[in-house]
Amino acid sequence: MMRLRLTFVVLLSLLLFKFTIHAQSSIFDVTKYGAKANQNTDFSQALLSAWKEACAFTSSSKVVIPPGTYLLNPILLEGPCKAPVEIHVQGTIKAPIDLGIFKEPSWVTFSNIDHLTLSGGGVFDGQGTNVWGKNCNKNSFCSSLPINLRFNFITNAMVQDITSKDSKQFQVNVLGCNNFTFQRFKVIAPENSLNTDGIHIGRSTGINITNSSIATGDDCISLGDGSRNVHVTNVTCGPGHGISIGSLGKYENEEPVEGVFVKNCTLTNTQNGVRIKTWPASKQGSVTDLHFEDIFMQNVGNPILIDQEYCPWNQCNLQLPSRVKISKVSFKNIWGTTSTQVAVKLVCSKSLQCDNVELSDIDLKYNGSEGPAISQCSNVRPSLLGKQKPKACGSSVTSINA
Ligand SMILES: *[C@@H]1O[C@H](CO)[C@@H](O)[C@H](O)[C@H]1NC(C)=O
Ligand SMILES: *[C@@H]1O[C@H](CO)[C@@H](O)[C@H](O)[C@H]1NC(C)=O
Ligand SMILES: *[C@@H]1O[C@H](CO)[C@@H](O)[C@H](O)[C@H]1NC(C)=O
Ligand SMILES: *[C@@H]1O[C@H](CO)[C@@H](O)[C@H](O)[C@H]1NC(C)=O
Ligand SMILES: *[C@@H]1O[C@H](CO)[C@@H](O)[C@H](O)[C@H]1NC(C)=O
Ligand SMILES: *[C@@H]1O[C@H](CO)[C@@H](O)[C@H](O)[C@H]1NC(C)=O
Repeated sequence: MMRLRLTFVVLLSLLLFKFTIHAQSSIFDVTKYGAKANQNTDFSQALLSAWKEACAFTSSSKVVIPPGTYLLNPILLEGPCKAPVEIHVQGTIKAPIDLGIFKEPSWVTFSNIDHLTLSGGGVFDGQGTNVWGKNCNKNSFCSSLPINLRFNFITNAMVQDITSKDSKQFQVNVLGCNNFTFQRFKVIAPENSLNTDGIHIGRSTGINITNSSIATGDDCISLGDGSRNVHVTNVTCGPGHGISIGSLGKYENEEPVEGVFVKNCTLTNTQNGVRIKTWPASKQGSVTDLHFEDIFMQNVGNPILIDQEYCPWNQCNLQLPSRVKISKVSFKNIWGTTSTQVAVKLVCSKSLQCDNVELSDIDLKYNGSEGPAISQCSNVRPSLLGKQKPKACGSSVTSINA
């Protein structure tokens, strides 16, 4: 009897021991792999080693980057992984300042992973201050700069309580992803940080951005071709260039943009509000089922804008109309102040027209010396509901500035 009980106790402790080992080994702390939070020792090898073990682990695992400030060279964290992986960043991770270290326009890239979580309250600091302000339109310099966070072909993912700061180029690029949520995500960069879009999405489905704040030098959120079923809720934007769909129509074979819901957002001191932009003389394309609702504009330029003659730096032939078809677009309950007299501008393609555009409860004030806010429309007959301030389509468009 005694002997049996002993065996049982031994077995039980062995089981507990094994369980504990198991539970512990699902956490991969980068400092155990040689990472040092001393600001100037690159820890990419440590992170890669921790990642590889976590990714090969057969149940849920966690890579932990403890508090402190780290230096990280460009890195690719690649799947597929055997089970869900969480990367828990508590520290601040800094990018190299020297551009020579970047062989591609990427700093931290996640690729081909199912069930990824990025969390922990940490910061990715792109240290872009020195490269902004370079001439972006004349050459490809800007697009060769590294993007802070790239998510390529990621499914069922969550990014929460993470900050992207001072990226050299876009802060976040989402490509080929499906079922992906950003919540309590933060972007910080100054107004003069050229080409630092907050979150750019392309060829992705089921992307949600909620309870987030984006302050940057370009579009807070921009949706490229193939963005489908995107929900932006409880987001603040500013400074920045607003929330943009496009630009579209520049390239052959662009996929449609469809199902975009922007709800309960606040834009402050942004260059634009909510806009859809397509190039004239363009390739074919389509934008449909976009809804902007409950949006507060504080001192925002072009608060409501459809611009199918988008042509920065006069790179195109304005005589030829855009061939991107826009339909089923609603702007509902949008109020506040505009910093440009034209508060509502709907400039659609003269060859296609916009269909099913709705303006409902618009209340935008302008207090410049030219007079009150106005609204301009061409090649569109929006249906109107509720309050219309300014009076909808009150003046016709003769010429448009890019
Ligand atoms: C979407 O992703 C989340 C993880 O962020 C996951 O919990 C959920 O099950 C996924 N939904 C589907 C339909 O797979
Ligand atoms: C995004 O939000 C919508 C509306 O709240 C919801 O139906 C959808 O499931 C959400 N998708 C994800 C990926 O969380
Ligand atoms: C968003 O914030 C509100 C208010 O703080 C909270 O009620 C809600 O649960 C949050 N949602 C998420 C997904 O964090
Ligand atoms: C937005 O915030 C409200 C209130 O703060 C909250 O109830 C709601 O859940 C939030 N929506 C999302 C999608 O997080
Ligand atoms: C809308 O967003 C604001 C923050 O911008 C939040 O305070 C408010 O609770 C949200 N309301 C709803 C109904 O989601
Ligand atoms: C109106 O203009 C004045 C001076 O330009 C500015 O100080 C004030 O904040 C503006 N008011 C609103 C409601 O935008």
